[in-house]
Amino acid sequence: MKNSRIIKKYTNGEITVVWQPDECIHSGECYTMLPNVFKPRERPWVKIDNASTEEIIETVNACPTVALTYYYNNGEKNQIMEKKPKDAQNKIEIFENGPIMVPAHINVIDSKGNILKPGEDKLICRCGHSANKPFCDGSHMAKGFKG
Ligand code: FES
Repeated sequence: MKNSRIIKKYTNGEITVVWQPDECIHSGECYTMLPNVFKPRERPWVKIDNASTEEIIETVNACPTVALTYYYNNGEKNQIMEKKPKDAQNKIEIFENGPIMVPAHINVIDSKGNILKPGEDKLICRCGHSANKPFCDGSHMAKGFKG
């Protein structure tokens, strides 16, 4: 298990995008959909003022994990905001050249009977290179995993 949990936030005054790099599987949805905002080679990598709030929300919702999430700075709007749609789906998803996503409501149990990451989406390593098995740590990208 990873010990550090980095969380970074970027705001345009209306919403705040929350970035949790430990959860990223490098699916590329963000920088493919909105390359003017999500620039992985730059620091800071999120240029939140380069698109409308609606475009950013659409892109964040396309992220298959909780690596990117958002909330409205006006707390009242958060009560009506849609939860990430993929979280609610009753399926296990295999990402091209990446991990297997097991949604939060399905338990993963280790060989000792422990429930792993209860209540969280789980990204299971499929490439064999993760240093955080059974979970994906993004190493599939560096190792050029194809599958
Ligand atoms: S699938 Fe991501 S590290 Fe193995």
